[in-house]
Amino acid sequence: MAKMEDIVSLCKRRGFIYPGSDVYGGMAGTWDFGPMGVALKRKIMDAWWNYWVESREDIYGVDAAIIMNPRTWVASGHTATFSDPLVECGECHGRFRADKIADGITESVTTEEFKALNVKCPTCGKTNWGDIRQFNMMFSTHVGPVDDDSSIAYLRPETAQGIFTNYKNVVDSIYPDLPFGLAQQGKAFRNEISPRDFILRDRECSQMEIEYFVAPATWEENFEKLLEQNHKFLTDVMGLDSAKIHDIEVGEKDRAHYSKRTVDIMFDYPNGQEELMGLAYRTDFDLSNIQRESGKNMEYIVKGSTERFIPHVIEPSIGVERLILAVLANAYRQEENRVVLALPEELAPYRFCVSPLLKNKPELAAKAREVYELLRKKYKNVTWDDSGNIGKRYLKQDEIGTPKCVVIDFDTLEDGTVTVRDRDTTEQIRVKPEEI
Ligand code: GAP
Repeated sequence: MAKMEDIVSLCKRRGFIYPGSDVYGGMAGTWDFGPMGVALKRKIMDAWWNYWVESREDIYGVDAAIIMNPRTWVASGHTATFSDPLVECGECHGRFRADKIADGITESVTTEEFKALNVKCPTCGKTNWGDIRQFNMMFSTHVGPVDDDSSIAYLRPETAQGIFTNYKNVVDSIYPDLPFGLAQQGKAFRNEISPRDFILRDRECSQMEIEYFVAPATWEENFEKLLEQNHKFLTDVMGLDSAKIHDIEVGEKDRAHYSKRTVDIMFDYPNGQEELMGLAYRTDFDLSNIQRESGKNMEYIVKGSTERFIPHVIEPSIGVERLILAVLANAYRQEENRVVLALPEELAPYRFCVSPLLKNKPELAAKAREVYELLRKKYKNVTWDDSGNIGKRYLKQDEIGTPKCVVIDFDTLEDGTVTVRDRDTTEQIRVKPEEI
């Protein structure tokens, strides 16, 4: 298994991911994607969209605003309950998430339970703790020119609510058959007490969520179907090793306030097993609350009948950064003389790298350009590299995860064939460019 520091180092060295605001010393919990990272991120997000939306008849996309009417968060319960247990050390005044600094503690830990455990402060080692207080994780801002209580709004802490608040618009405009899903990808913001583990826990992240609306009596069968389809996405599309993926049935005490059943899909990350995504049965919690808060009817009328009810919801939710980290950790191989990022071909930032064997031979460069243009007509994401020597180029492309390197040499000028080198086996074959 790759070490986290090796992945962090590769990501910076090869232009995948940099610390946010790096030039000013960083901004905790934020990360910026460089040229390779943004290519990987877009491919992962596009593959998810293709799998869930474009290839299915029952799931539709939406793209809602990030800043929503604050009543959204009252109805969803986030204003009252979207909080983590914050505890402060009475000696060094370090602030920590109580459930993250000791084993066997959950988010619902009380001050008494916490103090009885005699947990040592991770910074100063003392055990002089203040009371636990619930810290709301929503980022607030002011909308418009007046900075008072009436202008407070929040950056969305989950993309889900942008879906729920559009449920009625979608039903009224396109009236899909039940069951149907609405999918959304986009930024979510959480003022995490302790962002950590590279891109695993961030203050600004991206989520990909589906709210799947079902008839209440059918929630269990739909839950099982979606669980299986999510596993298939992770293994067959993202290429994750199924041995590193584990389902955990979340107990009642640890479930989010809206959930009657949650399965967390965990992944064996470099620093240990962590939640990669969740599948939650949200019942009619959100639509019923929206109906109460807005006064608008959220019932679905079954086509061709008079039957009407508020649909129940199954929600698969995955963080893009957590998925990227899983894909990177899964692909990272340290071999004797090289590091290889064995990414699935469809996800690699570049599919091919084309180069002339020697840079300063115009006849090789001209032929290589021809091959490069030919491949670019057939494939997206073909890169050109004539820097350094050929060995260094291979090492660089192996670390970026480019599946094939195409090299134009003196034999090409004689017989028209080029060398195609495979990233994973390093084997080389000669073929005509048109056969690639
Ligand atoms: N709508 C449900 C929801 O937001 P969640 O378990 O809080 O549920 C869903 O988050 C997923 O979003 C997680 O499984 C994780 O992949 C991702 N996620 C949540 N908080 C995150 C954070 N601070 N940084 C990165 N990803 C995060």
